[in-house]
Amino acid sequence: MLRKARMNRILVIGGTGTVGRQVVAQLAATGAQVRALVRNPGAAHLPSQVEVVRGDLTLPDTLDACLHGIDAVFLGLDRPAAAVALGLERITKHARRIVYLSAPLKTAHPLFQQPNALRAMFEQIERSIETSGVQWTFLRPGMFAANALSWWAPQIRAGDFVRWPYLAAPTAPIDERDIAAVAVRALCEDGHAGAEYVMTGPQSLSQLEQVATIGRVIGRSLRIEEISPDEARRELLTIGPLPAVNMLLRAWAAAIGQPAHVTSIVAEITGAPPKTFLEWATDSAAEFQT
Ligand SMILES: NC(=O)c1ccc[n+]([C@@H]2O[C@H](COP(=O)([O-])OP(=O)(O)OC[C@H]3O[C@@H](n4cnc5c(N)ncnc54)[C@H](OP(=O)(O)O)[C@@H]3O)[C@@H](O)[C@H]2O)c1
Repeated sequence: MLRKARMNRILVIGGTGTVGRQVVAQLAATGAQVRALVRNPGAAHLPSQVEVVRGDLTLPDTLDACLHGIDAVFLGLDRPAAAVALGLERITKHARRIVYLSAPLKTAHPLFQQPNALRAMFEQIERSIETSGVQWTFLRPGMFAANALSWWAPQIRAGDFVRWPYLAAPTAPIDERDIAAVAVRALCEDGHAGAEYVMTGPQSLSQLEQVATIGRVIGRSLRIEEISPDEARRELLTIGPLPAVNMLLRAWAAAIGQPAHVTSIVAEITGAPPKTFLEWATDSAAEFQT
């Protein structure tokens, strides 16, 4: 049960994304008035009770219509801080509350402490929000379970081989539905202003264990082979540009040798335990099958 909802008119920016789509669906289920700002309404495929409005965070003039009458904004996307600075200014003038999907920038675990460009972007956007005077909550999820869809699903759909670097690196993958559930609380309830929620899945699992879990769920014995970082740089450009691949390689390398950082924030905020990777893989099994 949500505590008394004080913010009932909510704009979701990034509502077609991995987490944002769940935020939209869960907000709609609470009966809140949900508006989604999307760049391409025709391709958004959001629930019918959601008001879909065309807009682009990097084009400030498209935002006024999207922000009209809005109490709170969920912001879940990565775009360069300079590109969204003016858009963010408009949002903080209109809205009373922002829930920003960031990352565990301040958590001492080495997985989260490797220098990278994304980190600087999150820091700059957080600074703009903090200094704007709006009520804010920062969500700091660790690795998404849903990364498996772009990392491993293409290989698993194509055959029984998975080639991957740093198989021993542990993470605590978090289900996007749990991130969204915390976001919905922070958007709708009072009591989350100024909070920074570092949230993870319930278990530390090596990448090898995560791929093997998917294999078990779909009933196939996958052959999982470790590749070197150099091979990964050549082979994994399908999952993102080279700087993103290098960022992941550095993080996994640094994470080896100690368990992943695990927090109890999802249960504390939502009252329900976070979903395991096994549950996520079971619910996502179709994505790994041809
Ligand atoms: N993956 C992880 O393990 C992880 C961990 C911690 C934090 N994060 C961070 O979490 C955030 C959200 O990730 P995600 O995977 O949910 O995102 P995602 O699936 O890539 O979705 C991004 C969303 O942003 C929208 N968008 C992009 N540019 C836009 C613009 N200029 N104006 C308005 N909307 C725009 C996209 O809409 P369109 O439909 O128009 O493209 C899409 O809805 C990112 O900042 C990511 O870095 C990720």
